[in-house]
Amino acid sequence: MVEPTREHAFSYRDGVLCAEAVSLDALAEEHGTPLFVYSHDTLVSRFHRLRRAFAPLEPLIAYSVKANPSLGVIRSLAREGSGADVVSVGELERALLAGVAPGAIVFSGVGKRRDELEAGLAAGIRCFNVEVAEELELLSQLAVARGVVAPIAFRVNPDVDAKTHRHITVGRKVDKFGVPFEQAVALYRRAAELPGVDPRGIDCHIGSQLTQLDPFRQALARIGELVGTLRAQGLAIEWVDVGGGLGVRYRDETPPTIEAYAEVVRDAVSALGCQAILEPGRILAAPAGVLLTEVLYRKQVGEKRFVIVDAAMTDLPRPALYDARHDVWAVREGTPLIQGDVVGPVCESGDFLAREEQVPDAQVGERICVLGAGAYCRSMTSTYNSRPRAAEVLVRGDEVHLIQRRERLEELWAHERIPEFLGS
Ligand code: LLP
Repeated sequence: MVEPTREHAFSYRDGVLCAEAVSLDALAEEHGTPLFVYSHDTLVSRFHRLRRAFAPLEPLIAYSVKANPSLGVIRSLAREGSGADVVSVGELERALLAGVAPGAIVFSGVGKRRDELEAGLAAGIRCFNVEVAEELELLSQLAVARGVVAPIAFRVNPDVDAKTHRHITVGRKVDKFGVPFEQAVALYRRAAELPGVDPRGIDCHIGSQLTQLDPFRQALARIGELVGTLRAQGLAIEWVDVGGGLGVRYRDETPPTIEAYAEVVRDAVSALGCQAILEPGRILAAPAGVLLTEVLYRKQVGEKRFVIVDAAMTDLPRPALYDARHDVWAVREGTPLIQGDVVGPVCESGDFLAREEQVPDAQVGERICVLGAGAYCRSMTSTYNSRPRAAEVLVRGDEVHLIQRRERLEELWAHERIPEFLGS
């Protein structure tokens, strides 16, 4: 049965698009644009929907912080019982600051530095997902020096094609991620001998924005095979970390439901008698956010029409990076559609929010917004063209909470110095 939870809480009320009970026009007046607007209700109901779908397994849901690392977002999920999947000391500190229990934090990442491993050991996290043999040796030394034992899992590369955009498929042999499947048994044996590390889990993440279940099935089958081999050799595996990766509908995609995904994972993991760890990012955060922007100008060149807005690829890089197509809605209900591009002010032709699409025919000064912008947008912003980063607000019912103020211009050069020899 499909959960009746609304996909997101952005809908028209009295002719104006609202986030829960708050008009996006009012938010733009108050906080300016471009502005990221998040719905607390969407975020937490996505989390509960996922938890319900996995209920019999009682997994650790470790929200993948990279999707949206704002403290207000992490805390919203942590208060509902979420853990965190982090990939840097910065994300680790964020998760701890936001109140995630160290025992609910897993540390992933292809190249963790010594200081990052140290920080994880100091915090006493749930697990290090080890991706390379040398990392295992280093972690063992550091843990011994501290007199602690680090719980670990190897991130195993199952050599499965996730069939998603080439930049976010990560589970093939040729990708840089994880330890090769054929080397996994030897590495587990090595880990079992080494002091300071305790191999307790197995980890696998094959890609992001997956719109099919088969790659998950294949990867889990291979992991199951490996768990069998390891157990036969006397190595106990307590948990399977299945990573993240389930896709969302941005525009035309038809991803599997959370429930269908859960069934695949539940079957595989319960057959192994293991606990489960999940690392979802996008499915929790993406539908919970929009990027609100104002129309600056309009331009027509022959048949070609451009709506020029004050948000850019610096705020929403997904179209430029992954050919992503997001829905774009007008804040005024009933705004007609035209065929055209929504573009930002940045000096690159890759700077578009929508290209050759039916887009709102919004007039100068009116606002439009990009949906599905709660994940991998604000977290991937840059200050290219010396554009300060956008503010973020979290809406809960009729309450508005500024969770990150707009970056100030002078903050852009606050850490810069003109060398003395160039004069003052
Ligand atoms: N676990 C690991 C080890 C990961 O590398 C990732 C994402 C996740 C979990 C969370 O995956 P999710 O559930 O969000 O698919 N910037 C790209 C996505 C990059 C994903 C990187 N890793 C985008 O905008 O599509």
